[in-house]
Amino acid sequence: YSDENQRILEASEWLTKLYHHLLRYTKDGKEGYNYFQDRSIQDETIDVFQLGFAPNTKDFIVEFLEKKGFNKQLLIKAGLVSERDDGTVTDRFQGRVIFPIRNHLGKTVAFGGRAIHDQGPKYLNSPESELFQKGRLLYNFDLAKRHIRKENEVILFEGYMDVIAAYQAGIKNVVATLGTALSESQAKMLRRYVNDVIICYDGDDAGQEASFKAAATLRQAGCKVKVAYLKDGSDPDTFIERHGGEAFQDQILRASDTYMTFLMRYYKKDYNLSLEADKLNYIQKVLKELSMVESSLEREYYLQELSKDFSMSLDVLKEELETIQAKYG
Ligand code: UTP
Ligand code: MN
Ligand code: MN
Ligand code: MN
Ligand code: MN
Repeated sequence: YSDENQRILEASEWLTKLYHHLLRYTKDGKEGYNYFQDRSIQDETIDVFQLGFAPNTKDFIVEFLEKKGFNKQLLIKAGLVSERDDGTVTDRFQGRVIFPIRNHLGKTVAFGGRAIHDQGPKYLNSPESELFQKGRLLYNFDLAKRHIRKENEVILFEGYMDVIAAYQAGIKNVVATLGTALSESQAKMLRRYVNDVIICYDGDDAGQEASFKAAATLRQAGCKVKVAYLKDGSDPDTFIERHGGEAFQDQILRASDTYMTFLMRYYKKDYNLSLEADKLNYIQKVLKELSMVESSLEREYYLQELSKDFSMSLDVLKEELETIQAKYG
């Protein structure tokens, strides 16, 4: 790290401790603490992730960091405080619960602040900087690394809360992309540690769309991908809060789809399968995808699924697949 970045890391460290202390031990942090209690987050988990609370003050944080000897311009540059148009410097996060974002070495390089009342954007993050590039970091990668190695598998979520809920439930080989788009650099980062990835994004349409894209990126990087699906459209953290970690393992993770099964479900949304023409187009699309599957065993398996799904003869589907293979292969 450069001298300047070293100073920024020090300031971030102080701030992590302050936010955490306020949440855990002070009256000012009580509403943040209550918020996590309402979401069933235990003290031990709060400590592991150093969760905190940014008080609803104009410049309490600014003054705290200045007193610790940090230069205002540096703090602004680091995005730890905000500068307004009129030149006044204020706290960046006000009245939000705080998720410190650690890099792969465990150093806090940014913060995520979540609103606890319905006001303003739900999440406010630190701006990107030399130290923090969203697309080059995976949330919780530092703590998850050894569990990923041990389990030979990683579970990829969208958000902080999904990671934290899973971790609290004893599922620790978990990371998040902080939003939905998985970058090539993040895929490569995972690939260096593991082959098998379970994508477990939110069950809503945006989550499914993002699963499709992330799956492609991960396969490009050489990973074997499975996709877990929350049929009721909920978030992993909500499922775990309601049903517990064991149910999440059994009903969601172990029931996750292979890439091909995911595609067969995902492609359906583009077609009205009660129409004959759509049905045929859908089958064509799946067969084209199948023609790229290398294992003959797998091809046979999915052909059977298609055949069952549309009550079509296996022979006809096979023949069509061979035609497609001849055309594209
Ligand atoms: P979600 O909206 O799915 O958040 O965004 P979540 O983790 O389920 O949060 P809760 O359960 O409502 O508290 C997924 C991730 O995308 C990023 C955050 O990192 C969040 O965890 N995000 C989302 C933002 O950075 N800004 C936003 O406005 C929304
Ligand atoms: Mn603590
Ligand atoms: Mn989401
Ligand atoms: Mn959620
Ligand atoms: Mn979510």
